[in-house]
Amino acid sequence: MKRGLFPLHFQTAHGSLLSTTSSPVSPMTHSPLLRSDQTLFRDPDVFELTFVPEHLHHRDAQVKELAFLISPALRGGSALSAILRGPPGTGKTTTVHRIFTMIREETQRIIPAYVNCRQDHTPLAVYGSIFKQVCGYAPPPTGWHLDDVKEGIVSRLRDRNAALVVCLDDADDLIVAGTYNPLLYQILRLYEKWDVRKAGVFAVTSDLDLNLGAEADSSVRSVFHPTEITFLPYTKAEVREILADRVRQGLYPRVLPKPLLDRIARFAAGEQDVRVGIDLVRQAAHRAEKDGRRRVTHADVTAAARAVTAPALRNRAAGLSAGERALARWIAERSSDGADMASGAVFEAAQEYLPVGKTAYHEHLNALAKAGIVDLVPRTGRGREVRLRYDAGDVAAACRSPDQTCKIPNGS
Ligand SMILES: Nc1ncnc2c1ncn2[C@@H]1O[C@H](COP(=O)(O)OP(=O)(O)OP(=O)(O)O)[C@@H](O)[C@H]1O
Ligand SMILES: [Mg+2]
Repeated sequence: MKRGLFPLHFQTAHGSLLSTTSSPVSPMTHSPLLRSDQTLFRDPDVFELTFVPEHLHHRDAQVKELAFLISPALRGGSALSAILRGPPGTGKTTTVHRIFTMIREETQRIIPAYVNCRQDHTPLAVYGSIFKQVCGYAPPPTGWHLDDVKEGIVSRLRDRNAALVVCLDDADDLIVAGTYNPLLYQILRLYEKWDVRKAGVFAVTSDLDLNLGAEADSSVRSVFHPTEITFLPYTKAEVREILADRVRQGLYPRVLPKPLLDRIARFAAGEQDVRVGIDLVRQAAHRAEKDGRRRVTHADVTAAARAVTAPALRNRAAGLSAGERALARWIAERSSDGADMASGAVFEAAQEYLPVGKTAYHEHLNALAKAGIVDLVPRTGRGREVRLRYDAGDVAAACRSPDQTCKIPNGS
C-alpha cells in the first residue's frame, strides 16, 4: 500500500519479510530442543543497530513535517532547515533515513546527504561524506583541499539542478569539536559563492540540555531558521508495537511468548529507549538458542536484562554522591525485603541507618529519580511510592561506594 504524503509518498505497509537466515529448517518442528544446525532467528539482521525498518511506527507527524520542509526544493526552491530533538532511541536517525530513502526513490531534484557526526566531525570529513553521497564516489584521499571537495559537490548539484539537504546527526559532537558554527555557516551559504540553491540542514541531537538553535552564532542564525521537531519517548504500547514488528521479522513464530514481549516492552518503555527492547529480544533469544531451546523463557529475559542494563546502571550510579548512593543501597535492601515503599515510610525507616534529615532525604531521592534509578510514582491516597527501575541486587551492586566502606556524611 502506498499512502499519499504532501508532497512525497512513503511506504507504510509492513514490508515482506527480509531475507531468511541460512538455516534450512524452521525450529518450530518436532522436538522441544533445537538441532545444532537450527536457529531461532529468521533474520538476525533486523536486530542490528544499522537496520532501517520497513515500517516506521508512530512518527507520521515528524515525517510529514520533514517532508513539508523539503517540499519547496521539489518546486525548484530551497529546502528549509530543522532541529530534531529527543532522547536516545526515539527514532530520530531512523526517521531521517526513512525520509531520505523516500527522496531518493521519488526525485532527482533533491540530493540528501546523511552525516554521522560521531564519526565525521572535522570539516574535511563532513564534506567528504557529503561529497560521497552527492557524487557517488569518495574524494581522493590526498591532494584535495576543502575547496576542491566543495567544488565537486556544487558542480554535481548544478549538473543535476538539484538541491542539497544535509542531515548532521548527533550534531552535538560538532560543538565539542568546535566545528558546528563554521560548518553550518559554510553549508548554508554555499549558494552565496557558487550558483546553487540554498541547502537545507537537519541538525539532530539527543542531548536535551542542549539548544542547537542557541548554539548557532549570529552569522549562522541569519541563514539558519530551523523548525524544531520533537521526538518524545514512545509509550509502552508504542514500544510494544515496534518490538512486535521486529520480532515478527527477526524470530520464528512462537519463539518469544507474548507475556515476555509485554515484559520487554514494559522494561524498554521504562528505560525510554526502544533500542534497549530490541537488544533485549536479541540477547534473550540468543540465550535460548545457545541452550538449544525453541522458546525464550522468563529466565532468559531476566539474564538478558541484566546484561543490557548493567552499563547504563553503572553510568547512572557513577554520577551520584556518596549520600545518594547510600540511600539507593538502602532502598534496594528495603525493596527486596518487600517492605512498604511509600516515600514517607522509607524516610522513617531510613532514620535508623542513614543520618539524613528530611530535606537531604528528599534531595537525594529526587537525585535518584533524576538519574533514572528510581521512579517516584504518585499514590492514590497521598504521597509517592519509591519504585526501583532495576533489580534491587543490581542497584545495590552498582551503588556500592568506591571504597566499599562509605561513611554517609550527615546531610550530604
Ligand atoms: N518508529 C519506529 N519504528 C520502528 N523502529 C524504530 C522506530 N523508532 C526507533 N526504532 C528502532 O529503534 C532503534 C533506535 O532508533 P534510532 O537510532 O532512530 O533512535 P535515535 O533517536 O536516533 O537515538 P540516538 O539519539 O541514540 O541516536 C533503531 O534500531 C530503530 O530501528
Ligand atoms: Mg540517532
